Amino acid sequence: MPTLKVDQEKCIGCGLCASMCAEVFEMTDDLKARVKDASKCESESCDCKSVAESCPVDAITYQE
Ligand code: F3S
Repeated sequence: MPTLKVDQEKCIGCGLCASMCAEVFEMTDDLKARVKDASKCESESCDCKSVAESCPVDAITYQE
C-alpha cells in the first residue's frame, strides 16, 4: 500500500483531492483534507499520484 499523507499546515482547503478521489480523501470540519483510506489508492477510480501532483500547494505526499 502506498504511503499517503496530507500536510494540514499546507492544505488551503481547496477540496480538489476530495473531489478527485472521494474514497481516499475527505475534508474535515475545519476544511482541511485528510486521508480516509489509503488502501483505495490502487482502485480504478483513483489515481492518487495525479491527485498529489494536482494539489495547488503540494500538501499531499505520495510514495509508492
Ligand atoms: Fe488541501 Fe491540496 Fe487537497 S490544498 S484540499 S490537500 S488538493
